[in-house]
Amino acid sequence: MGKTIGFLGVGNMGGAILRGYAAGLSGSSDAPQLLAYRRSTDKLDALCKETGAKAAESVTDLVKRSDVLVLGIKPYQFEELMPEITAAFTQDKLLVSMAAGITISYLTGYVGEDAKIVRIMPNTPAMVGEAITAVSRNANVGDEEFEAVMEIFRAIGRAEEVDEDLIHCVIGVSGSSPAYTYMYIEALINAAIRHGMPAEKARVFAAQAVLGAAKMVLEGEESPEQLRINVCSPNGTTLKAVDVLMEKDFRGIVEEAFDAAVARSKEMSGE
Ligand SMILES: NC(=O)c1ccc[n+]([C@@H]2O[C@H](COP(=O)([O-])OP(=O)(O)OC[C@H]3O[C@@H](n4cnc5c(N)ncnc54)[C@H](OP(=O)(O)O)[C@@H]3O)[C@@H](O)[C@H]2O)c1
Repeated sequence: MGKTIGFLGVGNMGGAILRGYAAGLSGSSDAPQLLAYRRSTDKLDALCKETGAKAAESVTDLVKRSDVLVLGIKPYQFEELMPEITAAFTQDKLLVSMAAGITISYLTGYVGEDAKIVRIMPNTPAMVGEAITAVSRNANVGDEEFEAVMEIFRAIGRAEEVDEDLIHCVIGVSGSSPAYTYMYIEALINAAIRHGMPAEKARVFAAQAVLGAAKMVLEGEESPEQLRINVCSPNGTTLKAVDVLMEKDFRGIVEEAFDAAVARSKEMSGE
């Protein structure tokens, strides 16, 4: 990209994106400059040492020196920080926000109609380079610039463009869903332990089974339904388990949980 990418707020998510992106850049000749800022200087220095990013001196310093500004602050911190960010922001810069409930329209209210704005919704597997990040842009972000920005998010997993209207759905399908999946893994582990497997082994067996099943969905052509049918031999063990899940409406329960996450997301955005 050959520019300066500034990360304002480098905690769990902002830090994971910076780490993933920096790791992917090492050795690249056209690598952009990376800048970061947070108030805790110890944590900032440690992250800069780890990633090769330079530490900015303040919010204003970071905004002024960045061509692409990635905001990794919490939603409730926007009201306090946007005036300072806006004062140093110019229309040649591109603003990226990952905050739940902070809309492109809210950001436009500060930085203006002509500003280039991208809104993203990553998920916590970003910490292990397996995020799925939804990326929305406003009309001011051209294709070439958008592609360059997508590279940042591809460094932490997959990234897909979606209309901003779909952001609530994204929260249900990928933002919050690692938690539902952990519950499923938890249950597999508990049952395996109950049947005599040592806890550490149960953890590996359960998690690897979920990882493998997810890979079959992503890498093959068959639908999840067909994949399920394929493993259910007549009168076999899997079919017995699937019958119980059907009877208890496992899929219906997951959908109900999904709907609750979507409803909360809408509520948080004031819709
Ligand atoms: N975690 C997730 O699963 C997830 C998923 C999708 C989206 N998000 C979004 O990602 C954003 C960050 O979440 P997180 O979990 O990474 O939060 P976090 O770990 O608390 O990180 C927030 C960062 O902002 C910095 N910060 C706060 N006030 C600041 C200020 N006045 N000046 C400069 N830096 C400041 C904090 O550092 P100091 O306190 O040192 O200043 C910290 O580095 C949120 O908006 C959230 O909605 C998170």
